[in-house]
Amino acid sequence: MASLPAVDPSLSLYRLLDPAVLADPYLLYGRLREEAPVVWDPYLHCWVVTRYDDVLRVLKDFSADRTPSPEFMRALGLGEIEPLAAVMVKQMLFLDAPAHTHLRKLCSAAFTSRRVEVLEDEIAAIADELIDRVRPAGAMDVIRDFAEPLPAIVTAHLLGMPRADHQQLKAWSADFAQMLGNFQHNPGGVARVVKSLADMTAYFRSAIRQETRPLADGLVKALVEAEVDGARLSEDEVIANIIVTMVGGQETTTNLIGNGLLTLLRQPAKMAELKARPEVMGSAVEELLRYETPSQHTGRICHTDTVMGGHVIPKGAAVMAVMAAANRDPRRFADPDALDFDRADNRHLAFGWAAHFCFGAPLARMEGRIAFRALLDRLPGLALASEKLVWRDNLGLRGLTALPVSFA
Ligand code: HEM
Repeated sequence: MASLPAVDPSLSLYRLLDPAVLADPYLLYGRLREEAPVVWDPYLHCWVVTRYDDVLRVLKDFSADRTPSPEFMRALGLGEIEPLAAVMVKQMLFLDAPAHTHLRKLCSAAFTSRRVEVLEDEIAAIADELIDRVRPAGAMDVIRDFAEPLPAIVTAHLLGMPRADHQQLKAWSADFAQMLGNFQHNPGGVARVVKSLADMTAYFRSAIRQETRPLADGLVKALVEAEVDGARLSEDEVIANIIVTMVGGQETTTNLIGNGLLTLLRQPAKMAELKARPEVMGSAVEELLRYETPSQHTGRICHTDTVMGGHVIPKGAAVMAVMAAANRDPRRFADPDALDFDRADNRHLAFGWAAHFCFGAPLARMEGRIAFRALLDRLPGLALASEKLVWRDNLGLRGLTALPVSFA
């Protein structure tokens, strides 16, 4: 392998561990895009790619099969992570064709647009109910009171699990997301996540086996019954892909609502514009997804020696595609740091691209539209109650720990 280029440490993505950089990563992303658009990051031990065209190419062409096997983890002396690896290697997010195509086809059969459409009234009712609860107080923490429970209740409904379980589903999802979104070693957290994974696996196994009640209509039942070309999913495959859907559906949507509302609160003229022009809500949600991308980056493996940005990325190298940086690339988006609800041709990469393009995008978009509409229409005088904001220490799934607001 050719020697790896020297890198300026101030350009490492590890700098996201600094709370100030995490609060506004766009300066770092901008420097990376201009000074080192394709760069070997020795601290992360992977290549980092930040320009739109390059990120697109990585998402289209590189391999998603990046999760080390349970055996490999054991050989590394990281046996405690084995149960996580055992689940992740069965999740569609980490598979290439043909295994990925087969799994995704079975899951799509269970995740039809009709299934999403019928949720619309349900989601609007949940949003109203959550706002009814906080309105008399004139203040709320948007994350705790709205942005977390809304997708959690919707997810319970989508899966066909009892609504009363939504807090438990949320807690499990948050634990799993710690592993998905982060790249820093966190030995203290592993035991909790492994325990949480064992509990949620037992919960879904019991549901599938109908040990306490018959399966209600929803994604779990549909996945158990889905059949394409005479093939069905194994019980372990159903559980692994329910988990990825459950985590994908909650953490990111919470962050779309939280990050999006913060953006509007910080730009009152844009908030006023959105109130005055309800017809642009659909494109506003797209713009908020581009501007404050909830899922900031994803990983791939380079499939063959590839020349990119003047470097050769060798076959087998890990690559991090930073969608959040690509979404602010001035080569692709005019005036990328401005929020523009009328932006034409807004083909952002917030939902990824190509084979792994987000499965739940239609649902996420609908939840976003309903959530912003409800917050803006029903809470007049919405304002930030504190400028002291703490971002979650999840470097990939960008979101706030709390968003305190007041309203009239
Ligand atoms: C704002 C909300 C959301 C965002 C920003 C988002 C983002 C993403 C991204 C970037 C990917 C591709 C990752 C990659 O290529 O490595 C993805 C895949 C996925 N998402 Fe979402 N997502 C959201 C909501 C949802 C919802 C609501 C669900 C389900 C209910 C969901 C389920 C999935 C699944 C199952 C995959 C894997 C697809 C595959 O591998 O073929 N997501 N999502």
